Amino acid sequence: MKINGKAWRTIWLEQNGAYVGVIDQRKLPHKLAKHYIYNHHDAAEAIQKMIVRGAPLIGVTAAYGLMLALQKDPSDQSLESAFSELIATRPTAINLQWSLKRVSKLVKSLPLAKRAKAAQKEADAIAEEDVLMCEAIGDHGLEVLKKLSKDKPLEMRNKPLNILTHCNAGWLATVDWGTALAPIYKAHRAGLKIHVWVDETRPRNQGSSLTAYELGCEGVPYTVIVDNAGGHLMQKGLVDVIIVGSDRTTSRGDVCNKIGTYLKALAAKDNSVPFYVALPSSTIDWLIIDGLNEIPIENRSSSEVLRIEGKLDNGEVREIQLCPDSSNGFNPAFDVTPNRLISGLITEKGISPASKLGLSQLYKNE
Ligand code: MRU
Repeated sequence: MKINGKAWRTIWLEQNGAYVGVIDQRKLPHKLAKHYIYNHHDAAEAIQKMIVRGAPLIGVTAAYGLMLALQKDPSDQSLESAFSELIATRPTAINLQWSLKRVSKLVKSLPLAKRAKAAQKEADAIAEEDVLMCEAIGDHGLEVLKKLSKDKPLEMRNKPLNILTHCNAGWLATVDWGTALAPIYKAHRAGLKIHVWVDETRPRNQGSSLTAYELGCEGVPYTVIVDNAGGHLMQKGLVDVIIVGSDRTTSRGDVCNKIGTYLKALAAKDNSVPFYVALPSSTIDWLIIDGLNEIPIENRSSSEVLRIEGKLDNGEVREIQLCPDSSNGFNPAFDVTPNRLISGLITEKGISPASKLGLSQLYKNE
């Protein structure tokens, strides 16, 4: 996608793969800065500190982390130690283990001298596949949005289709295009009249910082709302559809995504607003069924709740304290939306009901 007319991806190779460049997402929206990853410790740090974030991008970064480790030392011991360090960075998004396992399984069978190049090729393939999957999600999601626009009551037809999204499931969370935002970009480019309600997504504000930034760059009309406004907007008929991303989807279609997603799904059910989840197959954990009991939820630092960062009028970016000095904070980063609250899963293969049967039919040959 483009920033100021220039095409960007979130991650790229420098010097033929000697090191890796990424967009430093901690600095957005106030500054567009590059960050460089020279070894697997840097890759682990970038994931842990959320310099890069979003399930698909975490997976790709980890794959390149293994490549960097094997460039320095292609031994089994080096592979295992880099694997352990990278997998421990964030527990919830399944893409992390999926991509680490994919690269390490491939290189283990190779002679030492071939491992680093093979890891590079596989990490490149994971990145390219992610772009293709996200674009296909965009195409399938566009059909959903077109249908919803067409089915609007006659008197509402010239009004924009109001889409609500939570967190950032845009191109910054992937390599390019995004998941939940891909259908939105496709719809905007196809000339569909749309408007996006952007949940700010406390505590790290991925909505108000990253989603708002992305939509602004693409010229998509949007409005930032506080996380608690969604239910009210739905009651007032101001939300036509919700599309969110996923960090891990179980084999029966339960979806784990950024904290607050579940409350949006509940309000959507109560107000008959369609609630879609957009995800590539790399986000499906086929080995688990029950999202609530089987997905580990990351608990992050309480300081993310108790403090907040923003730009002062003089342009300086500062972090400030929000709560009384002695406050405790609790910061679970994700929640689980049960499949019964989900209208459909928008995948690279098409739209599936959020059910074991739906997913297994869509992916029956894999
Ligand atoms: O904590 P984050 O910012 O990594 O969480 C990201 C999300 O929850 C996204 O919605 C999810 O990864 C899907 S992104 C394509």
